[in-house]
Amino acid sequence: MQGSSIEKAVDKVIVLDFGSQYTHLLARRIRELGVFSEIMLPTASSSELRGAKGIILSGGPASVYGRDAPEFNPEVFRLGIPLLGLCYGQQLMGQEMGGRVEPGKVKEYGVARLENSGRKLFEGLPKNFLVWMSHGDRVSVLPKGFSGEASTQDCEFAAISDDKGKMYGLQFHPEVTHTEHGLEMLSNFVFGVCGCSKGWTMRNYLGIKIGEIKKQADGKKVFLLLSGGVDSTVCLALLGKALGPERVFALHVDTGFMRKGESALVKKEIEKLGIKKVHLLNAEKEFLEALDCISEPEEKRNIIGKLFIDLAMAEMEKLGFGGDGWLLGQGTIYPDTIETGATRNSNRIKTHHNRAPIVQKMIEEGKVIEPLNQLYKDEVRELGRLLALPEKLVNRHPFPGPGLAIRVLCSNGRETTVPGLQEAISKKIIGSGYSAILLPVKAVGVQGDNRTYRNAVLLQGPVDYAKIEEISTLITNSFNAVNRVVLLVSKEKAGQIKLEEAYLDKGRIGKLREADAIAMDETEKAGLMEEIWQFPVVLLPIDFGGKGEGIVLRPVSSREAMTAKFYPVPENALRGMAEKIMKVKGAGAVMLDVTHKPPATIEWE
Ligand code: XMP
Repeated sequence: MQGSSIEKAVDKVIVLDFGSQYTHLLARRIRELGVFSEIMLPTASSSELRGAKGIILSGGPASVYGRDAPEFNPEVFRLGIPLLGLCYGQQLMGQEMGGRVEPGKVKEYGVARLENSGRKLFEGLPKNFLVWMSHGDRVSVLPKGFSGEASTQDCEFAAISDDKGKMYGLQFHPEVTHTEHGLEMLSNFVFGVCGCSKGWTMRNYLGIKIGEIKKQADGKKVFLLLSGGVDSTVCLALLGKALGPERVFALHVDTGFMRKGESALVKKEIEKLGIKKVHLLNAEKEFLEALDCISEPEEKRNIIGKLFIDLAMAEMEKLGFGGDGWLLGQGTIYPDTIETGATRNSNRIKTHHNRAPIVQKMIEEGKVIEPLNQLYKDEVRELGRLLALPEKLVNRHPFPGPGLAIRVLCSNGRETTVPGLQEAISKKIIGSGYSAILLPVKAVGVQGDNRTYRNAVLLQGPVDYAKIEEISTLITNSFNAVNRVVLLVSKEKAGQIKLEEAYLDKGRIGKLREADAIAMDETEKAGLMEEIWQFPVVLLPIDFGGKGEGIVLRPVSSREAMTAKFYPVPENALRGMAEKIMKVKGAGAVMLDVTHKPPATIEWE
């Protein structure tokens, strides 16, 4: 990406990632201000850093004096480029410039009231407002030439500055929404201190990128794997615009795990753009055979990922792809290419097709073109609109590569509940107005940076979201063996619950596909499609009272999927949805997932 024409054309702020879970959020915020922002490792070379108008040192979990402190390029403090240190970044700045960093007397987590000087980063802002703190260490002695610019009750140097050296530090996190005036402080740094001009718009990007694609694909044809999601569709439209529709070929592998009508919709819309060479490969049979009797989530994912790439490559060869006259196009987006502190582990959990070993080899050989790899999801959507793709396509929720296969939970029928746990949970929530049943099924979750695989609990009681959130958090905080809580929504009581031996088969996938289509339809009708960031629907291998299997609705609000909140669907819409889903053949109960991420993940597998 280094030296691309985008960088030469617009001002750039670099974010050095010291392991914060907010790194992507920070880069996104800078881009929201109309300035290009890129994430780099703290060890980035001085020549890489020199292209920036400003550098932000992110937060991070380590102590600057600890043994696990990340390695960094110390030249960053001597380049004369304006610096902003946030949390860990401020502490590193404090230490490197000759001050002192120590553990605070109290650790500050959460919201704190900040009194500030009204200067520089605080220009134009109220003299005191609320900020989000999350730190144990603090700068206790200022370096020479620095002054304190703000404080909270527990933190004397909540903001520091050295105007001459163009160095600024904030102990709190301006990038999170709980901090008031966060974007304004970042704006004061980016425009006031760094002197950046606004230039990062999708219209600019489109113009520049078209030139780049023409250059990279000079005389070549491009073959793209069209998953049907927003990214690959926009990617194809962009390639078509840059190279002309006749030089662009697409293959869509229908795994049998797509949503209802999805494959046909994508093909139709793409053909409207003049791209006629969209080949459909129906591979449902191969996928079902390969997954027969498999229930372990990771095993399912691995089988799907490998088979997908094998089939796609074989088909592409059949269609004439290969040799020097071709490039492989991919709709990879920015968060998929950059490992930040928060995704370093989760990348191992989710294996992406577009980084399969054979693709990796082609990338090294310069045979892959990824024109969206500098963009975030919202930016991809905006680009799609500029390319005249319909709202209906551009606004679709993200959909995982393995599709419905990871939303149809499977089981070998052997129960795995912990003895005594049911009683303990019931006792814990006694008098709350809710009852709890420990479900004999496990789901994936995340705690810290670790993946968990634990049981779910079913609540029965009124749709009172404030109360439900409280109980859900109480249960997942109190019982290590539980990472997910759902609420019964369909009318009847849960009845006798029984784990069944069930795998991926056409019947179960068909059942989920119907339920999913109803949920999407009802969401659209209720006008909630944009407010809900993603809405998986999940089928459990549990029989409810002999009536059929359980179906879980999992609507969430989120920004980049790193964290998420369960979405409190208004009761009317929720009940209506459940009633219709209960009419699907083989549906035994409908539930709403009421767990945030963390401790749960968005998907169940
Ligand atoms: P979790 O479940 O970890 O998911 O909260 C975060 C986001 O990633 C999506 N996801 C995937 N996307 N291939 C993908 O392209 C995958 O294998 C995959 N697994 C999860 C998920 O839908 C959510 O948006």
